[in-house]
Amino acid sequence: MAMMATKCPGIKVTCIDINEARVAAWNSDTLPIHEPGLLPLVQEVRGKSLFFVGKDKFDEVISEADVIFVCVNTPTKKHGVGAGRAADLSFWELAARGIAKPLKDADQGKLRVVVEKSTVPVHTADAVASVVEAAGVTNVEVLSNPEFLAEGTAIADLTAPDRVLIGGRQTERGFKAIEILANIYRCWVPAERVKTTNVWSAELAKLIANGMLAQRVSSINTVAQICEMTGADVGEVSMIVGMDSRIGPKFLQPSVGFGGSCFQKDILNLIYICESKGLHEVAEYWHQVIKINDLQRARFSKTVIGSMYNTVARKKICMFGFAFKKDTGDTRETASMYVGADLLEERAQLSIYDPEVSKEQMWMDLHEAIDGKIKENKPNVDELVTYETDPYEAAKGAHAILICTEWDCFKEYDYKKMFEGMMQPAFLFDGRRILVSRKAELEGIGFRTYIIGQAQ
Ligand code: UDX
Repeated sequence: MAMMATKCPGIKVTCIDINEARVAAWNSDTLPIHEPGLLPLVQEVRGKSLFFVGKDKFDEVISEADVIFVCVNTPTKKHGVGAGRAADLSFWELAARGIAKPLKDADQGKLRVVVEKSTVPVHTADAVASVVEAAGVTNVEVLSNPEFLAEGTAIADLTAPDRVLIGGRQTERGFKAIEILANIYRCWVPAERVKTTNVWSAELAKLIANGMLAQRVSSINTVAQICEMTGADVGEVSMIVGMDSRIGPKFLQPSVGFGGSCFQKDILNLIYICESKGLHEVAEYWHQVIKINDLQRARFSKTVIGSMYNTVARKKICMFGFAFKKDTGDTRETASMYVGADLLEERAQLSIYDPEVSKEQMWMDLHEAIDGKIKENKPNVDELVTYETDPYEAAKGAHAILICTEWDCFKEYDYKKMFEGMMQPAFLFDGRRILVSRKAELEGIGFRTYIIGQAQ
């Protein structure tokens, strides 16, 4: 919305959130999310063409709006039909019901365009249209406009997107609505990159794009395992494979496993759709991408425990990075929470440092991962975990350092200084391959190193 408010002259953008604390944060200089380049953009237009308001303004803002973007979250269902796979659309439906009332009471002569921004499985636009229409709103079109930006690079991705995708009904009014939205994007995106399709293609294309990307990460993570067993170097393998222009170099970086709000959720959605259409083998094919990712996280924990003489109980282990990737404070589905739970199950003592993630967030995520994995005799997070604000403090007295997120600052640390304050033998496990170029130096210092995808 900040990008639209900056790029589209004459457009007024109002963001509504039911959470008052978030609204206050958006109106301050401490935004609720860490995203490089976002604050200056917000500061440029806030109070001029970009406004943040609370729910007391809901009816007024909705009844005035020409275009309404619905950006609520659609987490994976935890219970009931499709639990663990299907998307939970309760927030979406609540939002649809919420906007229906002011729209019904407002001027029905004007076409209202409702835009589905959340990634939702095929058919949701119809469901939303039927909720809104059943409430008596007659002049409304629901479009699907999935977002392809990635966290940490959101501003760059939005400034020059590969494509903008708009799906709508293939009717006269549907085309009119598509044009209204396409014209907003055309303010800064070249017209040939603004693509329009039917609703189902748009919704499915987003799931498949993420599915294909996640599939590449899972594929290269299996290659990393082969390399560890054979002595081939996964960095070299991915460089050579990526030089094939048909394949390309991106998303070939081995890791402790992919995380984030989209990959796992979208693939689970895809699996659910396949299963509900009777495509069981296809569902199983996509399921393997998730299974390999689960394996990758568990394998990292096993490597740590195995290398440290099969016991980490009461040993202090320093974890660098809790966010699911660098340049974001987001921790949804982060590999760190699963690796953390594995180590806590063994009663290791964790000291965690991440430049952007709050202590409260880590606490919640560790509990979630523990509750999902361990049914009895759960470890006590409050006793076993410390959250550090200084990386050197975090490493002090530790038996091992684990790199779980690829933050640039982790590449530059004085590891010799850390080593001197650590228990011996001191281990360093690089789950992101950010210290490959420093491996010889680290071993010279005395570290026992493990780098994902490299034979020992
Ligand atoms: C993703 C999609 O890329 C984006 O198009 C969509 O809109 C939202 O979901 P995001 O979740 O922000 O974006 O992260 P992304 O950069 O795709 O990374 C996902 C995960 O894969 C991260 O944990 C990342 O560290 C991991 N990854 C990525 C690898 O392990 N190796 C790689 O080579 C690339």
